[in-house]
Amino acid sequence: MAAAPTDERPIDRDVLDRLMARERARYVADHPRSRDLAGPASAALLAGVPMSFMGMLPGPFPLCFDTARGNRITDVDGVTYIDFCLGDTGAMAGHSPAPVVAAVRDRLEVRGGITTMLPTADAAWVGSELQRRFGLPYWQFALTATDANRWILRMCRMAQRRPLVLVFSECYHGSVDETIIVVGPDGRPMAKPGNVGPQVDPVQTTRVVEFNDVDALAAALRPRDVACVLMEPWMTNIGIVPPRPGFLEAVRELCDETGTLLVNDETHTLSAGPGGCTQAFGLRPDAVTVGKAIAGGIPIGAYGVSEELAARILGDPDADLVDQGGIGGTLAGNALASAAARATLGEVLTDDAFAPMTELATRYTEGVQGVLDEFGVPWVIVQLGARAEYRFTPVVPRSGGESRAAQDADLDAFLHLYTLNRGIFMTPFHNMALMCPATSAGDVDRHTEVFRAAVEELFG
Ligand SMILES: Cc1ncc(COP(=O)(O)O)c(C=O)c1O
Repeated sequence: MAAAPTDERPIDRDVLDRLMARERARYVADHPRSRDLAGPASAALLAGVPMSFMGMLPGPFPLCFDTARGNRITDVDGVTYIDFCLGDTGAMAGHSPAPVVAAVRDRLEVRGGITTMLPTADAAWVGSELQRRFGLPYWQFALTATDANRWILRMCRMAQRRPLVLVFSECYHGSVDETIIVVGPDGRPMAKPGNVGPQVDPVQTTRVVEFNDVDALAAALRPRDVACVLMEPWMTNIGIVPPRPGFLEAVRELCDETGTLLVNDETHTLSAGPGGCTQAFGLRPDAVTVGKAIAGGIPIGAYGVSEELAARILGDPDADLVDQGGIGGTLAGNALASAAARATLGEVLTDDAFAPMTELATRYTEGVQGVLDEFGVPWVIVQLGARAEYRFTPVVPRSGGESRAAQDADLDAFLHLYTLNRGIFMTPFHNMALMCPATSAGDVDRHTEVFRAAVEELFG
C-alpha cells in the first residue's frame, strides 16, 4: 500500500552513515584490482585520475573500467554494469556502436589520415544533417562542446560589438570562463564558488540571472550591452530545470527587443529528440552548439549559425577567422571525428532512434515515481526525452538556485554507491539516467528494483 505523501520525510543521518559505511566496505571488497590500479600504479596522475571528473564516484578509490559495449561497462575486476551514465551523454549512441566502429576503422585503417587540416566529404554530410535537424544553415566543428561555446561567444561579441554575455545561474556549458558565475546569496552576481584561476572575475564579462525569471532577464538585457544569451533550453546540469510555460518565448522576444543574439547549447538537451529542444519545441535561436553525443564518443563539438549571423561574421573586416584570431584548432573538424559523426547521425542516433529511448526514459520515470509514491518520499523526477533525473525536493525546481538548494551530497553519494554495488552505473555528478539504443526495458526495471531497495533501506 502506498504511504501517505508528505513534504517532510527527514533522512535519519545515523542510518545513512551506517548504510554508507557498509556500502563502502562492499565496494572495497568487490574491487581489489581497481584499488591496486588506484594506488602506486596511478601515482603519476594528478589526484590519481586522468581527468578530475573521474575522481567523483563516491567509492574510496576510482573505478577502473576494462571493456564497454552498448549500455554495458565491465570493470577491471570483471564486474559488469548497466550504464545509465553513458559518458554523461558522450555515449548516448551506446558504447562503440557497430556503424561508428566501422566508420572509424575505415578512416584509420583503410583510407588513413586522422588529421590533415583538409576537409572531407563526411564533414559536409554532417553539416547538412545538422542543418536539417536544427534549422540553422551554416556549421563548423570543434573538438569539444566547451570549445564550440567558447568560439560562439567570441563570434557573438564580435558581430554585435558588445562586451557582455548572459547565462543562467548554475548553468554548465563546459569549462568556459565567462559561464562560471552564479547569482550569489545576496542576489548579486559572483564567481561560482571554487572557480579555478579565472583570468578576470566573470562578473566583468557576464550578466547572470535565474532561469525562468523573465523580469530579471528583461532588466539584464535592457542596457543593450549583452552580445548573446547562452542557454540550455532546459537546464540539465543542476538536475533538470524545465522552462515554465512561455519562458522560452519570452527569452526570444526579449532578445529581439534588445538586439541580443540567442544561443541554444544542445549538448545535453539533444536527449529531447534528433534536433534537441530546438526542433522538439520549435525554437528559433541565432546559433546552436552541440558536442559529445554526435560522434558516438569520438571527441567533437559543433556550432551552427543563422544566415544573418553568418553574413555578419564572414563580412566583418576585423575578424580573423582563418588564422590566430581566437577561433579554431589544428585538430578541429578532423577526418576521424567527421567520419564518426556521419555514422552516428546517419545510422545510430537517427530520427527513429529517439522514440524508443524516450519510451524507456518514461518507463524509468514511472518506475522511480512508483517507488517514491510507495514510500511517501517527497522527491521529484523530471524527464527530458531520453533522460530523466530525480531530485531531493517535492516540487520541480524553477531555477538553478532552487535546484541547488535541494542538493544533499551524502544522500547523493549513498544512492550512487548503492546502485553501483548492485550493477547500475549512474552519472557520478547527477542522479541522471540516460537511455541509448541498446538500453532495454529489463535494464530499466532492474534500476527500479535496486532503487526501491535503497529507498526501503532509507525509509522503510
Ligand atoms: C550543456 C553542456 N555544454 C557543454 C558541455 C561541455 O562539453 P565537453 O565536456 O565536451 O566540452 C557540457 C558538458 O557536460 C554540457 O553539459
